Amino acid sequence: SVARMQFGIQRLLVPSALGAPALAPLLPLLLSLLQAPPLGARAHCPCHDPALCRPITHRPDFEVFVFDVGYKTWKYYDWSQITTVVLFGNYDSELLCYAHSKGARAVLKGDVSVKAIVNTTFRASWIAQQVKRAKTQYMDGINLDIEQAVAHLSPEYYALTALVKETTDAFHREIEGSQVTFDVSWSPHCVAQRCYNYTGIADACDFLFVMSYDERSLPWSKCIAGANSPYNQTLAGYDEYIKIGINPKKLVMGIPWYGYDYTCKYLTKHHVCTTAKYPCKHAVHRQVPYQKIMKQLNNSYSGSLWDINQKSPYYEYQDQAGNFHQVWYDNPRSISLKAAYVQSHGLLGIGMWHANCLDYSGDATAKQQTEEMWKALKPKLQR
Ligand SMILES: *[C@@H]1O[C@H](CO)[C@@H](O)[C@H](O)[C@H]1NC(C)=O
Ligand SMILES: *[C@@H]1O[C@H](CO)[C@@H](O)[C@H](O)[C@H]1NC(C)=O
Ligand SMILES: *[C@@H]1O[C@H](CO)[C@@H](O)[C@H](O)[C@H]1NC(C)=O
Ligand SMILES: *[C@@H]1O[C@H](CO)[C@@H](O)[C@H](O)[C@H]1NC(C)=O
Repeated sequence: SVARMQFGIQRLLVPSALGAPALAPLLPLLLSLLQAPPLGARAHCPCHDPALCRPITHRPDFEVFVFDVGYKTWKYYDWSQITTVVLFGNYDSELLCYAHSKGARAVLKGDVSVKAIVNTTFRASWIAQQVKRAKTQYMDGINLDIEQAVAHLSPEYYALTALVKETTDAFHREIEGSQVTFDVSWSPHCVAQRCYNYTGIADACDFLFVMSYDERSLPWSKCIAGANSPYNQTLAGYDEYIKIGINPKKLVMGIPWYGYDYTCKYLTKHHVCTTAKYPCKHAVHRQVPYQKIMKQLNNSYSGSLWDINQKSPYYEYQDQAGNFHQVWYDNPRSISLKAAYVQSHGLLGIGMWHANCLDYSGDATAKQQTEEMWKALKPKLQR
């Protein structure tokens, strides 16, 4: 029924958008028109207690920002910590009700083509659709995950900042206490050709989720396997965000609950895994969730190793075809080292991609490992 309603909105918008040269000023009007009809848009609250359909308005001092990609393992998350859960999977009303019962926000995922949003008419209708979607699903905001290349000072550069501003204005106006956030790379310096107006975007939304992972960009390196989220480089990224003028209270540290499995072309006894001949395009590597890593680690010939420069764990194993692999990951030790920066520099909070990576089977060993990962989000301040 939600899908049908969205389709209805689209049809409602398109005719009125035709021939309107500058719709942006009309956005408030459009939104208020959308607010009234269609009848019964908010009629049915899916929660057993209708109070659970009310938006969360409390602003926590510390954010624990969690990405959920589906399944039902969310029941076993550490809800004593979670303040926001982003629903990357399908809409799950049960999760929404549960999050609200714990005082946590549940927010949408938002993604749109940066080429398309240069068109202000399209942009306005896209935003109106997201607000409508959030309202019909009783969600508390949106996480904008627009991981696209944008050239400095291009039309897309300006449109992206405008999109964030207009989305935030629309959500804040339409849904009490709502939250609009934006996902950014580990550094503000055009990582993956994402040359955004980072200060403008930070000003325009509630906060940035900094994705401190995928930092090992193979084409740029020497084709040697390395940490997904190396300590120095990760923290240097936050230093840079702060240096360009972004308030630490607008930054949430994003850490990985997954690692990378590299197939080594050569592996030395000093643990240097060369993945390919430069330019590394042919390096074979794939993402692995923490739960799989912990199972495999047990059977690896190396056991867990620690790289003192990158402050990251890794291990080595040989597959059935005889190839050697090196797997780089994050564990409570490497995560708490990074998380200490959250406290020492007064960042708004911490979060992870993604919560489903842990083992929630209830097996005794797995249970302990999973608890330790959740606990590592809030380390005691180290002296
Ligand atoms: C802008 O977007 C609107 C709505 O999607 C569309 O009708 C219009 O043709 C677009 N304009 C241009 C120049 O592409
Ligand atoms: C970035 O955005 C801010 C806020 O909108 C604006 O004041 C600033 O001029 C923008 N920077 C650039 C380089 O366009
Ligand atoms: C690791 O192996 C030991 C002994 O082989 C076993 O007792 C333990 O349960 C295993 N742990 C995991 C997480 O598989
Ligand atoms: C990390 O940063 C510290 C402090 O700036 C420096 O002393 C150290 O050499 C760096 N380590 C690496 C591996 O770059």
